[in-house]
Amino acid sequence: MSVLIKNGRVITAVDDYLADIFIENETVTLIGKALEMEADEAIDASGKYLFPGGLDPHTHLDMPFGGTTSADDFETGTRAAAHGGTTTLIDFAIQSKGHSTLEALDTWHAKADGKTAIDYGFHMIVTDLEDNRVHEMKMLADAGVTSYKLFMAYPGVLYVDDGTIYRAMKKAGEDGTVVCMHAENGIVIDEIVKQAVADGKTEPKYHAITRPTRMEAEGVHRAISIAEVAHVPIYIVHLSSSDALEQVMLARNRGVHAFAETCPQYLFLDDSYYDQEGFEGAKYVMTPALREKWNQDELWKGLKFGDLQSIATDHCPFCFKDQKVLGIDDFSKIPNGAPGVENRMSLVFNGGVKTGRISLNKFVELTSTAAAKTFGLFPKKGTIAVGSDADIVVFDPNRTETISVNNACTHHMNVDYNSYEGFEVTGFTETVLSRGKIIINNCEYVGKKGDGHFLKRGLYGGMK
Ligand code: URP
Ligand code: ZN
Ligand code: ZN
Repeated sequence: MSVLIKNGRVITAVDDYLADIFIENETVTLIGKALEMEADEAIDASGKYLFPGGLDPHTHLDMPFGGTTSADDFETGTRAAAHGGTTTLIDFAIQSKGHSTLEALDTWHAKADGKTAIDYGFHMIVTDLEDNRVHEMKMLADAGVTSYKLFMAYPGVLYVDDGTIYRAMKKAGEDGTVVCMHAENGIVIDEIVKQAVADGKTEPKYHAITRPTRMEAEGVHRAISIAEVAHVPIYIVHLSSSDALEQVMLARNRGVHAFAETCPQYLFLDDSYYDQEGFEGAKYVMTPALREKWNQDELWKGLKFGDLQSIATDHCPFCFKDQKVLGIDDFSKIPNGAPGVENRMSLVFNGGVKTGRISLNKFVELTSTAAAKTFGLFPKKGTIAVGSDADIVVFDPNRTETISVNNACTHHMNVDYNSYEGFEVTGFTETVLSRGKIIINNCEYVGKKGDGHFLKRGLYGGMK
């Protein structure tokens, strides 16, 4: 099987040039001017950008959480991701407390195997780590799971104490792997939440009011300090506020391998969304919560100047009617999370590149390359180069769409609302190749369930 893409503008994290790309089977084999080879399929990309497929390192598909399960499974979620120009996801397997992490990996393999539209990997969420389990971390790394997520939030659910964090970090550092952290002081936040509920403050807006940015910043500071002592690279997930970013910057300035991602919801939405009529604010109950709008400029600066390395979605959808409603009488019972995996590339292109906040190269770095490096997938993923997987997005920089749950081009996620309802975006994914196979053709899904493969990831690559 071969594909020839003609006349596209090839954009990677460092390149920008007009060229043709020849793909044989799953990889790019030739890039050049006016290529004349015979190919099984030809794509005319005149006037279009050719980006490396997006890599979203933070999704929660088929995830049991908040008394229910996230609404997208590995079939629907990866298909929606593909529509939006994302060709690789890293999702999370969750260790059940007291059970083996290897057992959790088997469970998550069974959820995903044969179902996905695009390639995927797993981080492991560690929920306890007695001494007799520490050795499993090397076994996970050998199985291609080379990063972990630990939670300082959600006491009684996913939370782990500082001792567990240190044990996990020390071993992760020895093995050459990386630790991702949900950094918020969950113990203090739980006290504030309990008091709010006791005072009858039960509407969705109290989700944000009870989670101060200072408690995110404290978590970031503590997580990075422990990582520094344990000698492990640390990656702060879903960083939402200026206060938290400041802690990352301080650490980086003293030479710590501290990295962080933010998400479109923290760049484009703000805490005024909790003031909507009735229970509408529940759609935006996610953790960390949406922040005051002025934080957005600080996050964009962090992205532009390199203190924030990636934009992930933290896609964790719950249907408004059937699932968010679990917290109708008590905001603390609203399942935490929101959809977004499909809209990331357009939102960031429109809100970042079109507005002049970031360059085209930076766009690619933030949506694909940096995460590929951090999570051991580069240069197989994250770039367009001879020998790399032919994960390529043909992107129309001039096409405008209005994101809506009712727009068949912008919403394929299995959830009854879109967090960006009514947002007009210019810049849209038209055609997507995943390992050389066209899976989205002019916004239509033409792949099949099971096209995607599990990715055995390499060791931490952030220092390369
Ligand atoms: O609200 C969120 N973010 N839900 C998903 C779980 C997590 O904390 O990442
Ligand atoms: Zn989290
Ligand atoms: Zn998450």
